Amino acid sequence: MKAIRIHAFGGPENLHLDEIDKPSPGPGEVLIRNRAAGVNPIDWKTCSGGGASAFIEALPFCPGWEFAGTVDALGEGVDRFRVGDEVLGFTRFPQEAGCYAEYLVAPADQLALRPAALDPVSAAGLGLAGLTAWQALFEVGQLKSGQSVLVLAAAGGVGHLAVQLAKWKGAYVIGTASAGNKCFLQSLGCDDTLDYGRQQAESLIHDADLIIDGVGGETAIKALDCLTPQGQMITLPSVTAAEVIAAGEARGLKVSGIRARPDGDQLQELAKLASCGKVMLNLSDSLPLNEAARAHQLSAQGHVRGKLVLTL
Ligand SMILES: NC(=O)c1ccc[n+]([C@@H]2O[C@H](COP(=O)([O-])OP(=O)(O)OC[C@H]3O[C@@H](n4cnc5c(N)ncnc54)[C@H](OP(=O)(O)O)[C@@H]3O)[C@@H](O)[C@H]2O)c1
Repeated sequence: MKAIRIHAFGGPENLHLDEIDKPSPGPGEVLIRNRAAGVNPIDWKTCSGGGASAFIEALPFCPGWEFAGTVDALGEGVDRFRVGDEVLGFTRFPQEAGCYAEYLVAPADQLALRPAALDPVSAAGLGLAGLTAWQALFEVGQLKSGQSVLVLAAAGGVGHLAVQLAKWKGAYVIGTASAGNKCFLQSLGCDDTLDYGRQQAESLIHDADLIIDGVGGETAIKALDCLTPQGQMITLPSVTAAEVIAAGEARGLKVSGIRARPDGDQLQELAKLASCGKVMLNLSDSLPLNEAARAHQLSAQGHVRGKLVLTL
């Protein structure tokens, strides 16, 4: 089968289309014929030697942690799915999952059935960003109806899903993006939008109960001024998480990092919301698998609107 792999850490030029053996499912696992794989910043960060690279046991490494495909074979003890089922998944993170490939093997409890109304390309982009948003808002953030949420990088993969999930929960949502994304944020349901090139969130907002920070660094530290004294920030970029948490602690504010966790049950709820239009995955672009290097270049530029997906 064909798979995109790196044989050394480095830039997008290191991504190669290799011919490798098809994997076979172990107990509790499912073999999937892949139809599409979502692209996330963690993919290129890991390939370049950062991100989740500390969890990669050996090279070559096949990137990608989310996908949509068809169940091709079942490992011992799997009764949750049948051969031929259409599924989506976010799997094995932060260990290697190998989703940039024609076939992959994933634990059955990290998959969800893909509703017919949810197309496979959109479904492939839902898992990682969607469960990050879900777990940040509802598990760590304990968001309640009527609360006020500020989403930094609201037009990105995580941000655009976080805005919609927070609205679904009944929150008041403010999103930050560049001026060109104002209408996009409004279409997602944002009650208010800030153009980060012109407006400083910290000068304008002082009553946020929750901040979902998709930017990190100085932007996140300044945005701590937006929180109420009891509010909390969840900062997503792991590379600056320690400094943002320390800045929050120094001011007596609750700030935490997060590592998104595969969860088939949560993913099933998310897929249901996506299939009935409560949550929409915005497809920034879909590219064939052999253009993975181009996808990594686009993601690394930091201005993807919604999600990028590779198709097979
Ligand atoms: N800890 C975890 O488990 C976890 C999980 C998922 C993601 N993450 C991390 O969280 C971050 C966001 O992830 P993502 O997938 O949403 O990224 P993404 O899709 O690549 O984000 C792109 C978006 O960022 C926006 N943006 C860029 N600079 C901005 C700024 N200064 N202020 C506001 N928006 C800005 C862009 O909007 P404009 O085009 O309008 O500038 C663009 O829409 C990444 O660092 C990622 O690695 C962590």
